[in-house]
Amino acid sequence: MPGTGRDVGGVSTEDARKGRAVTGARMVGLFAGIGGLELGLGRNGWQTELLCEIDPGAQGVLAARFPDVALHSDITSLRALPAGTELVAAGFPCQDLSQAGRTAGITGKRSGLVDEVFRLVRRKRGPRWLLIENVPFMLQLGRGAAMRHITAALDELGYTWAYRVVDARAFGLPQRRQRVLMLASRTEDPRGVLFGDDAGARIVGDADRDPCGFYWTEGVRGLGWAVNAVPTLKGGSALGIASPPAVRLPSGEIVTPGLVDVERLQGFDPGWTAPAADVPGIRQGHRWKLVGNAVSVRMADWVGARLAAPLDPIPGDQPLPPGTPWPVAAWGRAGSAYRVPVSTWPVHEPYEDLRNFLTDSRLLSARATAGFLRRTGMGSLRFPPGFLDDVESHLDRMGGWAA
Ligand SMILES: C[S@@+](CC[C@H](N)C(=O)[O-])C[C@H]1O[C@@H](n2cnc3c(N)ncnc32)[C@H](O)[C@@H]1O
Repeated sequence: MPGTGRDVGGVSTEDARKGRAVTGARMVGLFAGIGGLELGLGRNGWQTELLCEIDPGAQGVLAARFPDVALHSDITSLRALPAGTELVAAGFPCQDLSQAGRTAGITGKRSGLVDEVFRLVRRKRGPRWLLIENVPFMLQLGRGAAMRHITAALDELGYTWAYRVVDARAFGLPQRRQRVLMLASRTEDPRGVLFGDDAGARIVGDADRDPCGFYWTEGVRGLGWAVNAVPTLKGGSALGIASPPAVRLPSGEIVTPGLVDVERLQGFDPGWTAPAADVPGIRQGHRWKLVGNAVSVRMADWVGARLAAPLDPIPGDQPLPPGTPWPVAAWGRAGSAYRVPVSTWPVHEPYEDLRNFLTDSRLLSARATAGFLRRTGMGSLRFPPGFLDDVESHLDRMGGWAA
């Protein structure tokens, strides 16, 4: 339990509280994508021993960015974890979870890729930590059945589990992106890692003075409006991102961020996914999907820092009766679960202005602007004051409806 001086990933909490990073503790990245979790944890001393990822474009990125790490393609053919693995990171595909939601508790049979993770950690000397990452929709899937499936599997394995929805803006990135981080262990208490800090949501800009993000492909039912941030970057199809973001600048101009910009908006170095384009058959557009699917590096960095230096968890947890909707944060073990009163902003890292991330942006084309304006007339959405005037002026500057 927190404060007892137990080991965390290779160092005692006493050392960790003094700020000593974990050095050389071994981890494995399953469903590694382009390595967001591995990169962020690596900054805190975690050493990746094995990566598992099936997408050829993502494999190209991993091979270039983690050149000394073994790479396995399909998790279903991975027989075992390397000996001495202390942490397993797994951000499994959400569509697979829907299957878990449908079958959980009904057939009892293996419901997909998430169970492959449980198969691998089931061993007697299993890893000390299991870190799962996914979209917040995971909490609602199958009216909570997907989460019941996961927590029941962890209970059965003898794990204590904790999860928290966190927002990338808490770590200073101007992207409104929420993700579920779930941490489980048989020997450690994950609460000191996930529930040690709570800074609370805060206002990060002013719609009149700062750039504002929105989805230019929407406008009928939703807008994704975000002040001094872009809305969530999404993976979408292989050809491009599902809902590409645009940004209204204070000047009224409307731009779309470039690939290098969105890499940075996820906490990667510019050009991180460039090696994907060298893989035969992979189109440039695929890089957008890889970036949209990734874990923000700074989110993973925060988990890494807290693994090395857990804090006493925020008090005030309350029993979570079975069947209640899954809250923003909870923990449990052996069939009991508790709601934890924390926000999606564990910390307030210095907030970076969205303007500084638009180095590779382009003006939104007349065609795209006209399409967006047409859609805004089709629904009953209310728009921020002055916004549609700016979109119309932008269209005029770009050559108008005729263009
Ligand atoms: C949500 S993404 C994970 C993103 C990653 N955490 C990152 O930071 O980039 C899920 C990944 O699982 C991969 N995947 C899907 N099926 C797989 C399988 N059978 N074996 C290994 N990886 C798989 C997908 O290609 C995708 O990259």
